[in-house]
Amino acid sequence: MARRAVAVGVGRYLPARIVSNAELEKSLDTSDEWIRTRSGIERRHIAEGKETTSWMGAEAAKQALAYAKLDVGDIDAIILATSTADLTFPSAATLIQAELGMTHGFAFDVQAVCAGFVYAMTTANLMILSSQAERVLVIGSETFSKIMDWTDRSTCVLFGDGAGAVVLESQEEAATSSGIIATDLRSDGRYSELLYVDGGVSTQMTGYLRMNGGQVFRHAIEKLADTAETALQKAGLTADDVDWLVPHQANIRIIHGTARKLNVPTERILVTVQDHGNTSAASIPLALSVGVESGCIKSGDILLTEAIGGGLAWGSVILRW
Ligand code: UT7
Repeated sequence: MARRAVAVGVGRYLPARIVSNAELEKSLDTSDEWIRTRSGIERRHIAEGKETTSWMGAEAAKQALAYAKLDVGDIDAIILATSTADLTFPSAATLIQAELGMTHGFAFDVQAVCAGFVYAMTTANLMILSSQAERVLVIGSETFSKIMDWTDRSTCVLFGDGAGAVVLESQEEAATSSGIIATDLRSDGRYSELLYVDGGVSTQMTGYLRMNGGQVFRHAIEKLADTAETALQKAGLTADDVDWLVPHQANIRIIHGTARKLNVPTERILVTVQDHGNTSAASIPLALSVGVESGCIKSGDILLTEAIGGGLAWGSVILRW
């Protein structure tokens, strides 16, 4: 019997500490006006104390399980998209597994930077379609504040911390119209120097995020529109069928530029970048969670998600909610 990976729960966690653009003006040569007009960001959440990537991921997961009226015993697998795991190893996904009290199944991390959530959703979808798992917790959780050079105004004003989670459930294709319809993944390592962390275990350096923002910007709109078009074609849909574009939340100008190329009108875009900044792999599940809670996303809606980040890696997932 053909299967479908259907989203049955969604949740989020945002750190308690909110840092406004005005607060950044005090320590950096920047302005609220510059940050708002260039990126659309007004504030971001910054993790402190116990708010690690795994802890926030577990909190988002608990909310998603509660939404789905499931408990951890109903879950077979945890796939965590992150580039800011608590430790070099074990995976932060296994730390979430322990935090949730889950002693069965399996858990692992996916690292595709800001595209991590679409990579994790694609992986979970394939596991469900091939009957490797019945229910998968797909989580995006990041603490990018820890890899910021807080003296570099061209990057540190753009990022924030947080976590979002979705429960995907295997259902009979014949019995549901909901679920993942199409996915598309891409990467091109020739562009690794446009967005990277300048250190890591094998270089024995503490690294900070470095970005050629202008170059990434130029690649972003073209590549996001391309992967979204490809996914729409695979799904047999057009932009007119899309109820909500749920993009990676990096920059409002990238979001609007991509939507224009796709012919998706502004009123059908879910935007959270003003409140969260760029939370890398957490940005799409955070936006989904906000969209569902606010009543914008309704059962049966066609959602087009797309993201791009370091690698460069990019991709798109289309699902019916
Ligand atoms: O999620 C992963 C993918 N990442 C992205 O999608 C980010 C992509 N890039 C961007 O979002 C944009 O390129 C930025 C928001 C990073 C920058 O916007 P921009 O329109 O490309 O600005 P720019 O790089 O051309 O910088 C313009 C000016 C520069 O000054 P000069 O050389 O023109 O005098 C920068 O030094 O703005 C200056 N600048 C700042 N000024 C005030 C850079 N950062 C700041 C700042 N405050 N925080």
